[in-house]
Amino acid sequence: MRKGILSLTAAAAALALGLTACGGDSGQTTTSTSSASAPAKAGKIGVILPDSKSSARWETADRKYLEEAFKAAGVQYDIQNAQNDKTAFQTIADQMVTNGATVLMIVNLDSGSGKAVIDKAKSQGVAVIDYDRLTLGGGAAYYVSFDNTKVGTLQGEGLVKCLTDKKAEKPIVAYLNGSPTDNNATLFKAGYDGVLKPKFDSGEYVKGPEQSVPDWDNTQAGTLFEQMLTEQPKIAGVLAANDGLGNAAITVLKKNNLNGKVPVTGQDATVQGLQNILAGDQCMTVYKAVKKEADAAAKLAVALAKGEKPTATSSVKDPETGQDVPSELMEPQAIYFDNVKDVVADGYVTKEELCTGDFAEKCTEAGIQ
Ligand code: BGC
Repeated sequence: MRKGILSLTAAAAALALGLTACGGDSGQTTTSTSSASAPAKAGKIGVILPDSKSSARWETADRKYLEEAFKAAGVQYDIQNAQNDKTAFQTIADQMVTNGATVLMIVNLDSGSGKAVIDKAKSQGVAVIDYDRLTLGGGAAYYVSFDNTKVGTLQGEGLVKCLTDKKAEKPIVAYLNGSPTDNNATLFKAGYDGVLKPKFDSGEYVKGPEQSVPDWDNTQAGTLFEQMLTEQPKIAGVLAANDGLGNAAITVLKKNNLNGKVPVTGQDATVQGLQNILAGDQCMTVYKAVKKEADAAAKLAVALAKGEKPTATSSVKDPETGQDVPSELMEPQAIYFDNVKDVVADGYVTKEELCTGDFAEKCTEAGIQ
């Protein structure tokens, strides 16, 4: 309680400082767009995306939806991508603040480097929003994401459904976890362990090889899965934490004529993941309506940039500090062959990009209009 009050006071002080900082700035930034109708007192918003390889989402979905939201609000913004470089991440943050950002929205590359950015920003009166990934021990002003444990639960349930459909008996299940430095990967695993561990414990399923993939590196995931399959050729199901890792496993399974026989999970409803589902090589993916996440985060950022103190609808406890971080958490949705069409209907991917070549027929079969 006491900690909560202290942190609120600190946030308020930071905000006040932020306002002072942006008051004297006339606004020059290279990559931002601003509307003439922007209220004079609104500061700039800087967004740092993590990379463009661990998932297609950051550049194809997050950037687009955030840009749309900022434009609609008529605020100045600058969205950059750290390309998996922690040093660049801090440099970008510094440049954004120098160029007048009073609010930063970050997707950390790990909690340590994320916390360094938050600490420095705070000391300069800049408010920070943890976007998608919670910075452990970081003390961001807000956290906007999905219910990530639920994402993992859907993956675990999805694998069970696909193994059951295949009438698998005592299937050996392999894990390709996300990056060990991403708190989301921890939450996803807690979710799928919650579904699968009781089955391992009862002997219904057998726990196979498990690896966490550094930086969610898809290439490394392929190498790791190749080793796993050599070590245990009878892998009958793969819990892959996102579509990129899933595709890495599918590529290896294809070489061994096992694709379509061994169900693989995913996440992010990427074009590649959805095509793998249409082809029958991937069991399921988890669709996260990034537009909702981007809109919620942009709303908070815009309010902060205007010097307001927005209230969040929920909170998440930082396991390292025990402090509650005001949060907005969206609901994920499981996607199988039959409801791939929901992702298209939602406008997240278009029929044109999904239903190319051989996939056209599969799209018709899956009722994609
Ligand atoms: C995100 C996932 C993404 C992964 C790799 C996670 O933090 O929640 O959507 O697939 O990072 O970028």
